[in-house]
Amino acid sequence: MSFKPANNIQDLQYFGEFGGVNPSISDSSTYTFLAAKSMMDTFEGNLEGCYLYSRHSSPTNLYLGQILAAMEGTESANVSASGMGAITPTLMQLCNAGDHIVSSRTIYGGTYAFLKNFIPKFGIETSFVDITSLEKMEAAITKKTKVIYCESVSNPLLEIADIKGLSKIAKKHGLKLVVDNTFSPLQISPVKLGADIVIHSLTKFINGSSDTVGGVVCASNEFIDSLRNVNDGASMLLGPVMDSLRASSVLKNIRTLHIRMKKHSENAMYLAEKLEEDGLKIIYPGLEHHPQHELYKTMYNKEYGFGGMLSFDAGTLEKADELMELMQKRNLGYLAVSLGFYKTLFNAPGTGTSSEIPHDEQEKMGLTDGLIRFSIGLDNDIERTHQEMRSCMKEVGIL
Ligand SMILES: Cc1ncc(COP(=O)(O)O)c(C=O)c1O
Repeated sequence: MSFKPANNIQDLQYFGEFGGVNPSISDSSTYTFLAAKSMMDTFEGNLEGCYLYSRHSSPTNLYLGQILAAMEGTESANVSASGMGAITPTLMQLCNAGDHIVSSRTIYGGTYAFLKNFIPKFGIETSFVDITSLEKMEAAITKKTKVIYCESVSNPLLEIADIKGLSKIAKKHGLKLVVDNTFSPLQISPVKLGADIVIHSLTKFINGSSDTVGGVVCASNEFIDSLRNVNDGASMLLGPVMDSLRASSVLKNIRTLHIRMKKHSENAMYLAEKLEEDGLKIIYPGLEHHPQHELYKTMYNKEYGFGGMLSFDAGTLEKADELMELMQKRNLGYLAVSLGFYKTLFNAPGTGTSSEIPHDEQEKMGLTDGLIRFSIGLDNDIERTHQEMRSCMKEVGIL
């Protein structure tokens, strides 16, 4: 595949208001018009280059959207105050009362809770299906289905979605394929594989400094304009807008994303291999025994590797807790949710980031109580990290 997302980021050129190398931050919620007629035209969406009100759009947010659209190879993008602030308006924009969504069953707990508990009150139902089976995904489609929803690399079991296969199914049935690409920025380019809409929680790898929440929807001009429409746009009307100061700081962090993703992947691969040699059964897409290892290789932008996330089962929740507390004490990382930080982050998703998923459903999908999800950091000396991790594991009796 010849798509080069990091080149697209590198090639964007911005000049600040006074010739600064960074674009100026727009520090206004509202904008003046010299002619009243221009205000009316802007309201109606007929005037390019005019700003109305920052919930609709602002120069800094548009800059950030532009860089993310370039990264995903879409015409446009709309940034939001959080990843959920990107996911929920997208699905509400695409579906009306009576519609149906076919979703992967292994998705972020918040998205699962939205689909399972929240959106049914607007008459939108979801079937949760095993994403590793295209047959099962297609079989779940009904006359009412409008959307296929998945994560390219799923949270927390690291199952890989066959985006090309799903795209064929979506096209055959006239559906939109929406992919949350939060776990694999740069590594996987879903639109190039046939997805219609790509979503990120910017909170994670893309911003990379665990100092803010943020999100983005990358899609066609038509869809992004519909989200922002003053009369019926879900982003405009629900209002999860990112602040310009934050947009400017996220934009600056994206410039090092390619370097960080390579290091996250290199470190995760090293630990996955070493911990397997030590005797653990590691879930990591880079390992040959991962069920979708070959599939991943048909989809990824190779230079960014297999990602920074890995998981394994510590046996029981008690063991997982004991190990995580000890690892934090030894300064190997933080016992915290979220991902994409310079330090390793770990948590037990069954009781943490996936706790919204009922226990019996967790069991069905293979999400065991003792599962620990790691977001591997940017450690310069990963050999030292491995030695220290192994000694913690020996101490708690996992090795
Ligand atoms: C895969 C994935 N998508 C979406 C979200 C939601 O993002 P945010 O917390 O920025 O709203 C998360 C958060 O953990 C996530 O892991």
